[in-house]
Amino acid sequence: MNPPTIDLTRLKSLIAELAPAFGPSGEEGPIRELIAARVRPLVDEVRTDALGNLIAVKRGGASGARRVMVSAHMDEIGVIVTHIDDDGFLRFAPVGAMRAPVLLGQRVMFDDGTVGTVGSEKLDDPKDLKLDRLFIDIGAASRKEAAERVRIGSMAVYAQDVRAAGRCLTGKALDDRSGCAALIEVMHQLQAEPSPHDVYFVFSVQEEVGLRGARTAAYAIEPDVAFAVDVTATGDIPKGERLAVKVGGGAAIKIKDRSLITHPRLRRLLIDTAEACGIPYQLEVLPYGGTDAGAVHLTRAGVPSGVISIPTRYLHTPGEMLDPHDVAAAAALLAEALRNPLAVGPD
Ligand code: CO
Ligand code: ZN
Repeated sequence: MNPPTIDLTRLKSLIAELAPAFGPSGEEGPIRELIAARVRPLVDEVRTDALGNLIAVKRGGASGARRVMVSAHMDEIGVIVTHIDDDGFLRFAPVGAMRAPVLLGQRVMFDDGTVGTVGSEKLDDPKDLKLDRLFIDIGAASRKEAAERVRIGSMAVYAQDVRAAGRCLTGKALDDRSGCAALIEVMHQLQAEPSPHDVYFVFSVQEEVGLRGARTAAYAIEPDVAFAVDVTATGDIPKGERLAVKVGGGAAIKIKDRSLITHPRLRRLLIDTAEACGIPYQLEVLPYGGTDAGAVHLTRAGVPSGVISIPTRYLHTPGEMLDPHDVAAAAALLAEALRNPLAVGPD
């Protein structure tokens, strides 16, 4: 079997369109609208649930069709304003996992287009570089002037476009807009060659603060089987972590992270499918971290779940980097997996 042909140009431009959009956890409106517009022509039904998850349904309608949930989170990490001082500087708390050394000096944006730079108090020791010593400077001269543009609770994200770097792409929120792009590519693939199953594509909210959106989406959908597509850490940089996953090594089939042990049947299905179709893949064990599948597989009486990961360097920085060929491999693998019978029940 040949691997499905992925339109790499379409995939890259989709990533470049989705990643810069505004959508910190809990404030996913702008990215949701963008994704909804892209998926509407490709599926049978699009809806938004109570928490803001975007759910796009593509019905297979075959006899023996399963309900399959496929999840990628559309939210991104960000910061939230906690205090505005007399001189108009903003103090903030993280939304999701944000580190002070990464934030310092970065440009951030609010959803009304207000931009600011993250500055630091004067520190005697670099070890004191902590989030509570940082502030956002939006160029306001006073609290009053700042308050015309932001208020307590306003959220900001990195202001960063996607750029090509060699064969890679670099930008903010590739975690997990690259996964969202992969899901949209799977929809294109299923237009050409359908799945027998009813596939519920979930662009989930609030993953970065604890897999929250996927939890309620899974409860409502009651899937027989679930897959998540998300980024994963790599070990391929100078003196990096001892991880086997590399950028450019193909789709990473997750075996385990801190939230999930992939269901053995789905692990075999993904490996066998990649082998049979000649889709480049690698195996992933991540000693930490989690994805939507962590919440989904514990829903109701349990949902056999698997994860296809996109190897990404510099996670949770404005310079995340991935190889779009790996995103293409992830989309190809998921599309092919969805064309399988997908047995249910215990292993
Ligand atoms: Co993340
Ligand atoms: Zn993620």
